[in-house]
Amino acid sequence: MAMATRKRPGPRAARIAPSILTADFGSLADVARRLEAAGADDLHLDVMDGRFVPNLTFGPVAVEAIRRATHLPLDAHLMVVEPDSLTNDFAAAGVDSITIHAEACPHLHRTVQRTRALKTKRGERMRVGVALNPASPLALVEAVLDDVDLVLCMTVNPGFGGQKFIEAVVPKVRALRHEATRRGLGNLDIQVDGGINVDTLAVTRKAGANVFVAGSAVVGAADWASAISNLRRVAR
Ligand code: DX5
Ligand code: ZN
Repeated sequence: MAMATRKRPGPRAARIAPSILTADFGSLADVARRLEAAGADDLHLDVMDGRFVPNLTFGPVAVEAIRRATHLPLDAHLMVVEPDSLTNDFAAAGVDSITIHAEACPHLHRTVQRTRALKTKRGERMRVGVALNPASPLALVEAVLDDVDLVLCMTVNPGFGGQKFIEAVVPKVRALRHEATRRGLGNLDIQVDGGINVDTLAVTRKAGANVFVAGSAVVGAADWASAISNLRRVAR
């Protein structure tokens, strides 16, 4: 079984995390291998339950197959109504990071603590992220900012790839980076996800994001390696 061997670079280094949502689901292991070869930093796995969002994707069994195919860190984005019922299974399946939606957690502080307490398949502490939908305010995550490794500011309404970037989220990214700096949270990753391409990456990078999820901008491109290196060039 391939295990993630890449150590995370220093704080706030730019990372390109292709999403497999718009890839060929008939060959996810091959997609994972090809994205690793194309220079991805992480693999973004969009888990959807058909209830939190109007779409249904894959579960821990598919993630196990992807885990066997790549050394990349697996970044699970749980767009599900009851994340607490699934985090253990995704940890056992081999993910390295789990992002839950603040909107899906009535007891967000407890869910963050539970997820942080999980171990990855390599025996390391699970990285934990919290996601905010485009219309959700930063206030939803203020009480857990010191406990998470990542905040995901959704730049589309979750559920589908290939949607248009929502400009109105940019001030939220800027305010979040400002707050993280104020608190001395230099290692906090700010991830943006949805409609990310070279133009919108430049805007969100300037606002303070440093992890960029790109689905159609990468897997929809003819040459995945040049799509990733173009994104990385802009992210520098
Ligand atoms: C949407 C997912 C995103 C999506 C991004 O719910 O969370 O990760 O796959 O796809 P693009 O980059 O095509 O907007
Ligand atoms: Zn996502």
